[in-house]
Amino acid sequence: MSTTGRPSPRPGGAGTRETVAPAGQASGIRRGLTSYGDAEFSLFLRRAFIKGAGYSDDVLDKPVIGIINTGSGFNPCHGNMPALLEAVKRGVLMAGGLPVDFPTISLHESFAQPTSMFLRNLMSMDTEEMIRAQPMDAVVLIGGCDKTVPAQLMGAASAGVPAITLVTGSMLTGGYRGQRVGACTDCRAFWGRFRSGEIDQQQIDDVNSQLVGSVGTCSVMGTASTMACLTEAMGIALPGSASPPAVTADRVRIAEQTGTQAVGLAAQRTDMGSILTRKAFENGLRVLLAIGGSTNAIIHLTAVAGRLGIRLRLEDLDRMSAATPVLVDLKPTGKYYMEDFHRAGGVPAVLRELGDLIHRDVPTVTGRTLGEEIDDSGPGFPQDIVRPLSNPVYPEGSLAFLRGNLAPGGAIIKQAAVPAHLLEHSGRAVVFADTADLAARIDDDALDVVAGDVLVLRNIGPVGAPGMPEAGYLPIPKKLAAQGVRDMVRISDGRMSGTAAGAVVLHVTPESAVGGPLRLVRTGDTITLSVSRRLIQIEVSDEELARREEALGPPPAPVAERGYRKLYVSEVTQADEGCDFRFLQSTQLPRRTSHELVPEPDQGKPPIVSRRF
Ligand code: FES
Repeated sequence: MSTTGRPSPRPGGAGTRETVAPAGQASGIRRGLTSYGDAEFSLFLRRAFIKGAGYSDDVLDKPVIGIINTGSGFNPCHGNMPALLEAVKRGVLMAGGLPVDFPTISLHESFAQPTSMFLRNLMSMDTEEMIRAQPMDAVVLIGGCDKTVPAQLMGAASAGVPAITLVTGSMLTGGYRGQRVGACTDCRAFWGRFRSGEIDQQQIDDVNSQLVGSVGTCSVMGTASTMACLTEAMGIALPGSASPPAVTADRVRIAEQTGTQAVGLAAQRTDMGSILTRKAFENGLRVLLAIGGSTNAIIHLTAVAGRLGIRLRLEDLDRMSAATPVLVDLKPTGKYYMEDFHRAGGVPAVLRELGDLIHRDVPTVTGRTLGEEIDDSGPGFPQDIVRPLSNPVYPEGSLAFLRGNLAPGGAIIKQAAVPAHLLEHSGRAVVFADTADLAARIDDDALDVVAGDVLVLRNIGPVGAPGMPEAGYLPIPKKLAAQGVRDMVRISDGRMSGTAAGAVVLHVTPESAVGGPLRLVRTGDTITLSVSRRLIQIEVSDEELARREEALGPPPAPVAERGYRKLYVSEVTQADEGCDFRFLQSTQLPRRTSHELVPEPDQGKPPIVSRRF
């Protein structure tokens, strides 16, 4: 190594002018040179600057592995980022690569206003452009909190650089008066008990200190855990990488192995599209159903697939659901936590139990097929958290896809989390215009509502709120909660947290703010939910709906004067397209023409509506 400032001997010319490889063939720091009009000068400058940080020429000849650092003081779900970065770098160095970490936007569910979903696409753009702009042969995507993993997958899919996901891992559970507790299913349960007067201010304050036992992502099968499991099932993360909690040695070892594997991906130039094929997405959907995963994952998978030119059809999910039991007994649909899931074998145990329902011949980031990885994961052992197909937690998949004149483009319900008496229900609609109206009236003793009513909330869709908040889990009116009512049918064009459960119909498409039929519902109308018939219906004639639509006129254009918000409301798609921006979707993505209902010949026939949206 030279200490004189002269270049050290290195392949391609010791101390001489370096030849710049043609675009597309360059590797390491020679990739993607900055435009100065003189490529050799660009490389000369780049070397000078990075050597200013103490790097030697020898190191700069190695393959560069970018590592996305999403650590942030505003993101406790990523609070183990320093340990993960150190371990990934160690793994990269051991395999002969040069690790270089760089920051992108980081999003935490409780610290992003108006919603993290509003900012997911911005994070995906940041991720895509920083991967593309900077010289790296492969990239490690370190994410965890709900929107971060989807944003990273979307961005990396579009950037086209070999990528591997590493999740931060789940938090530990805490304890309150002898009861095990964890975010966020228990957060909602305790809050409900506080609202109904069952526990007092001191008790809710005390449990608040115990719900989040450590750094890491929510400790149940919420959106973060779901996306972690899906990355592993789709082969874009290492086998066994989804479930180790954030603060464990297993998590750090996975990080080290991920760094090592990233160097292999760089050598093979394995792009994300060759791993995330349609079959891989089908495996993802299958596992989503089997783990009782988050409804949000449907939106995220649709968006990631859209970046790769693949359109996911919710009808396909529904067909899979009929043949895929829920096998994992985790909250919110079951009773255990992520750390239990890890001890029970994690995703490899689920894949093993699913057997022939999984495509085994798909490639993974390890260079081997998913089937080979499943075979290598070893035999199962006695435990009651990942059940066999013969003894499931729930006989069908956790999610059901609904259609009807209230949701021509579809809606989702987590059927495994619905009390049996509400799976088939007709009730009187009690309508709230938006979240402000809901907040103003839901706890009013004068509110005309009974337990059998159907709560309807509109204007919380992708455009309406904007950002599709997780407000679809409408609170039970206080006076009914005090009477012991714990669940009601609730319908909205918004989302709910993956950690929540109940008779909640979500993602009604198209949303009310862009003219969807949800805006035509009036308090007093009868609404029918039939999960067995996959139906969500307003019992009002087409003629009357047409009259209401004419009286309302077209929906007002969304108001946004400038900046990202203006971009968002003009470009965001509906839930059935993953709420991605139109201009970010792959140009190869088959276009959807309308939300018009076309009943399938062999299925329950939802009513045809003539309106197009
Ligand atoms: Fe980050 Fe739940 S708030 S995963």
